[in-house]
Amino acid sequence: MQRILFVCLGNICRSPAAEAVFAARARDAGLRVATDSAGTSGWHVGEPPYGPMIAAAARRGYDLSALRARQVSADDFAAFDLVLAMDRSNLADLAALRPAASSAELALFLGQGEVPDPWYSRDFDAALDLIEEGADRVLARLGATGA
Ligand code: 4NP
Repeated sequence: MQRILFVCLGNICRSPAAEAVFAARARDAGLRVATDSAGTSGWHVGEPPYGPMIAAAARRGYDLSALRARQVSADDFAAFDLVLAMDRSNLADLAALRPAASSAELALFLGQGEVPDPWYSRDFDAALDLIEEGADRVLARLGATGA
């Protein structure tokens, strides 16, 4: 079973949404995966996702309310097979944290593009549009490799 970790800066907007959207779509597709999310910062550790993101996700049928923020650690590169960053800044922070011997794959969630931070843009629906697109992309990739 693939273990996938979604990572953003605060772990209260983009990565918890990505975790929930991906888990729902994987379930619908009959794909067994283990999912979690974390932040590169420890700013919001222990907090639920940000209220406006919980609300925007709920309007699309995703329940983020039980999730709690945590900070990513070097150990996550052993606990997960695939670590997906929401933007290039997250990707650079993760690359610096990743143990040299880790065989975990580290990549941008969207492949090339970034999920802009809605904490600053306030556009939670635009973030969710990209996250739904990204979740389908990752799902297609995993399906294609038979993972
Ligand atoms: P996230 O959004 O990385 O998508 O969870 C942010 C949440 C909080 C902050 C920055 C980004 N902050 O500066 O506290």
